[in-house]
Amino acid sequence: MKNTLTSAVCAVALLSAGAAIAEPKAEVLHWWTSGGEAKSVAVLQKEFSDNGGTWTDMPVAGGGGDSAMSALRARVLSGNAPTAVQLKGPAIQEWHEEGVLADISSVAEAEGWAEVLPSSIAGHMKCEGTWCAAPVNVHRVDWIWANADVLEANDIQMPNTWDEFNAAAEKLQAAGIIPLAHGGQAWQDATVFEAVALGILGPDGFRKAFVELDEDTLTSDKMKAVFDQVRIMRGFVDPNFPGRDWNLATAMVMNGEAAFQIMGDWAKGEFLAAGKTPGEDFLCASVPGEGFLYNVDSFAMFDVDGEDSKAGQELLAKLIVGPSFQKVFNLNKGSIPVRTDVPLDEFDSCAHLSAQDMAASGESGALLPSYAHGMALRGAQSGAITDVVTSHFNSDMSSDEAVKQLAAAIANSL
Ligand code: BGC
Repeated sequence: MKNTLTSAVCAVALLSAGAAIAEPKAEVLHWWTSGGEAKSVAVLQKEFSDNGGTWTDMPVAGGGGDSAMSALRARVLSGNAPTAVQLKGPAIQEWHEEGVLADISSVAEAEGWAEVLPSSIAGHMKCEGTWCAAPVNVHRVDWIWANADVLEANDIQMPNTWDEFNAAAEKLQAAGIIPLAHGGQAWQDATVFEAVALGILGPDGFRKAFVELDEDTLTSDKMKAVFDQVRIMRGFVDPNFPGRDWNLATAMVMNGEAAFQIMGDWAKGEFLAAGKTPGEDFLCASVPGEGFLYNVDSFAMFDVDGEDSKAGQELLAKLIVGPSFQKVFNLNKGSIPVRTDVPLDEFDSCAHLSAQDMAASGESGALLPSYAHGMALRGAQSGAITDVVTSHFNSDMSSDEAVKQLAAAIANSL
């Protein structure tokens, strides 16, 4: 009896000694490498190390995360997954189906995530009822950014319709200014395309096309009108656009070489990191039309061995959804907090507009997941759409042909 008791006591002592010596560590794969992004991820690194964590950085450059996702696949296939990965939308559930994600429900429950996250967003963080990702922010995709001085000097207002946008762009072009700063990378083409699609199809049409993959909508006259407008916009882009990174396009708006950029509000992170002020140096407006396209960054934890790594995952998940990180990170990143209880008084006018429009769109059924940023569809389907969008953008493909290819691409990817 005494022996049994002694070994039980020893086991408890060992367990608690084990827990006490776990030193949180995390190798973090992300694609936040631009000026504004790097400043934002530094906030997380600092909070992690202030709380005793050791951070190993694994940045994979490439806007939109395509290169980061290839790097992730290679790491997982070689049996050496990173501890924490910037991952979002249905890709989270796809990785869960491969059986490689850790369950972070204990942190989510201890921290009361269900009470502070909107249910539409919490749904993206769940895998078969368990919590499998920690949400960072809400980025809005359907924005137009503009250089305030350039618009004023040319007597141009932020456009309320696509016709107004086209008229403004023609006027700017005649004045020798590049109307639209754009980087020719597939995900940027897709970003412009979906912003135009939201405006022209409207929220219900967008949902039918890019969430439900409804063939009638994908091949409709309105979808042809979307491609027509994108074709017009292709003419507003300078000849050096191929391959240009999105943040270099933002810099063109900042320095007045170009007037507008259509990009998610990570572009605001660039303006802010360069010391620019919204309403004075640059302007923000949602694209013509109704609705709100959301893009929620999040981190998923991969199933890795070792108490230190597990402690690192728990600490990271806790900090990411914590109110202090949510405020400071999002002030830098250009997004708004995902928690509903973080005061916005230190946030700028673009962030306030985003929060108001998100709430209103949530009520009217116009709050929609971004297809271009991997929130709406599984990878095979969004990839199939983007292939058509980018080949239309980079050729003289007609709108009739584009919708035909769209329907065929979707049918093949299902
Ligand atoms: C991510 C942002 C990132 C942007 C550019 C988006 O898909 O959600 O966090 O800043 O890509 O890399």
